[in-house]
Amino acid sequence: MNTTKALLSLMVLAFATQLASAQKGVNDLDPVTERKIDSIINLMTLKEKMGQMVQYNGSFDLTGAPSEIDGNTKLQKLRAGEVGSMLNVLTAAGTREAQENVMKYSRLKIPLIFGYDVIHGYKTMFPVPLGESASWDLEAIENGARIAAVETAASGVHWTFAPMVDVSRDARWGRIMEGGGEDPYLNSVIGVARIKGFQGTDLSDVFSIAACAKHFAGYGYGEGGRDYNTVNVGISELQNSILMPFKAAAEAGVATFMNSFNEIDGTPATASVYLQREVLKKDWDYKGFVVSDWGSIVEMINHGYAKDKMQAGELAVKGGSDMDMEGLVYEESLVPLVENGSIDEALLDDAVRRILRVKFNLGLFEDPYKYSDETREAQNVYTEAHLEASEDIARKSIVLLKNENNALPLKTSLKSIAVIGPLAADKDSPLGNWRAQAVPNSAVSVLEGIQNKLGAAVEINYAKGADLAIGERAFIQPLKLNQTDTTGFADAVAAAAKSEVVVMVLGEDAYQTGEARSYTDITLAGVQQELLDAVHAVNENIVLVLMNGRPLDLSKPNEQVPAILETWFLGSRAGNAIADVLFGDYNPSGKLPVSFPRNVGQEPLYYNRKNTGRPSSDLIFYSGYEDSSIEALFPFGFGLSYTTFEYSDISLGAETLNADGSLTASVSVTNTGDVAGKETVQLYIRDLFASKTRPIKELRDFKQIELEPGESKTVTFVITPKTLEFYSANNIWETEPGDFEVMIGTNSMDLKKAAFSYE
Ligand code: NOJ
Repeated sequence: MNTTKALLSLMVLAFATQLASAQKGVNDLDPVTERKIDSIINLMTLKEKMGQMVQYNGSFDLTGAPSEIDGNTKLQKLRAGEVGSMLNVLTAAGTREAQENVMKYSRLKIPLIFGYDVIHGYKTMFPVPLGESASWDLEAIENGARIAAVETAASGVHWTFAPMVDVSRDARWGRIMEGGGEDPYLNSVIGVARIKGFQGTDLSDVFSIAACAKHFAGYGYGEGGRDYNTVNVGISELQNSILMPFKAAAEAGVATFMNSFNEIDGTPATASVYLQREVLKKDWDYKGFVVSDWGSIVEMINHGYAKDKMQAGELAVKGGSDMDMEGLVYEESLVPLVENGSIDEALLDDAVRRILRVKFNLGLFEDPYKYSDETREAQNVYTEAHLEASEDIARKSIVLLKNENNALPLKTSLKSIAVIGPLAADKDSPLGNWRAQAVPNSAVSVLEGIQNKLGAAVEINYAKGADLAIGERAFIQPLKLNQTDTTGFADAVAAAAKSEVVVMVLGEDAYQTGEARSYTDITLAGVQQELLDAVHAVNENIVLVLMNGRPLDLSKPNEQVPAILETWFLGSRAGNAIADVLFGDYNPSGKLPVSFPRNVGQEPLYYNRKNTGRPSSDLIFYSGYEDSSIEALFPFGFGLSYTTFEYSDISLGAETLNADGSLTASVSVTNTGDVAGKETVQLYIRDLFASKTRPIKELRDFKQIELEPGESKTVTFVITPKTLEFYSANNIWETEPGDFEVMIGTNSMDLKKAAFSYE
């Protein structure tokens, strides 16, 4: 990195850190703003109130079922003040044009709020959220979101539909890629880091955008990993696992929530009075607004919960859905529903108040065009500093899964290296799905990364071997995989045969994960396993570089190859980051945010399971599988380094924790290898006996440390009653007296233990 670039990156980081210091959220009500909102609501007709609750897609249909409504009708409605928000309207010029329709023609001139799915970057692509979560680096994650916000805001957009904080335990579900993985606590802290990055300290800053905690709630728990599918969980699981990250997001002042497509215990989330009114708006005292998911209000008819649009509108508004995303239900139903007495106008007032509050917080009433500035746009999108920052977090997100006999790092003194696989020279898949405005084929491929690193001295023998996907690939297009064509195998085998070492880049096409991309087979797709077999037959010295957005079943490759590097979809500079790790310029430090199974039959698989009444092995009547272990192949929290770390036993500050006290738990960690390395020290808790059964372990804290060879550091965690809190049989968050275990270690399976009690 040259000095200018390094300085620029530091400046971005310093900017992010400074902003993180004093967050002001949507829940901090400003009395002056509230009075202004009152006076606007007093002026509004019923139709204008309804208008604020309607969100239209822009001129194109990007993310859902095609719009029923044509562009001209939309325009007329904008001008009549019957639309409060639009999604997928982009650029400084485009958003200005749309805003003008409201500002010039509508009676009350209430500015539109523009939303867009900025999931892992706007044009500069960061690792997909699941991959970025593997960094466990909250500062870098916040910085990534801040940069995404800067680019988004500079492009005229006020609001991102992120972060997704759905606890996701099922590798079959394509959207597992969009969140922080299987753990409620990790999802909470990562979600909050993203919210801070998007929103900054002040929403009215021109580089801050409103964030959206989604999908509320239970979307990650769909039966069988099928998208949009039925969810059945009880209150204890709902509160303790699914809702924990949403609660953290509300407390962090996230400006908006999005509800979810699924039903939960027989009620579509979109109409859930329990979720949206009782828990979110009452128990958590949340003051922002809830947008529906795309068409989730009208889809209640398909769920068999509403008989028509009229009833769907009534149920959704009573259930606390404040804005209808392209569902076209509120615009038809709200006015007649109030007029015929089915709903109280106060429900509309409450929804409108929440929506206006966010618009005020963004500063849109002061200047509705403040985000629509072409000069700012030209200067702040896809800059070198942003790309450097994306490369930085890409390196931190890579997880070393296997490294037998120190196969990695590779030496630059190699004579020859084969680079093989459908993803090896792919400049598109590293951009991931949900890629906003990324330019297709703009990423640095693994092959390019290796070429940049090695120069001309080393013979690089590249062969694709096979295609992974065939035909057109796109977000809104079904993906076709190559299941038969092996004609490229011969070249791959020849390249492998004449090379000292083989880097094979396999995994998933970017469009294999994301919305509506569920799979029942999570082994290497298409003909990739056969390709690996063919190459392995001539050269066993293989480093497997994986690109994927979900946990894969790696049982077979794991038996074949000495080294495996999990690189997810790392974004714009993926290839450089991967080459840095392959050749030891960066010592890998990522840890899995999700368990990798031995086979798909173990799914949903997660480390923080409950005990049953029976053991999981031995005896005849045990709770396990006859043909498989119940443990993951690579567990949650797992990730190797080019060095080794040794943990001491835990030393506890006391054996008892009191209600207003705290307790320290410390370990000494030593770098016992030859190179400097970064370790993520993880703390888990087990509540041995409680009014509701508790998991066998739960992540409750972690710290990252850097150690030189031979160096030791003491890592101390502070446990307070809050660390032990859970949603109890009393239906409140509380800490119950009793015995606990504390576990500290390098991953969820390899832990030191100590015991204490809470009185
Ligand atoms: C549907 C998706 O479920 C949601 O996550 C997304 O934000 C909306 N479409 C808008 O694109």
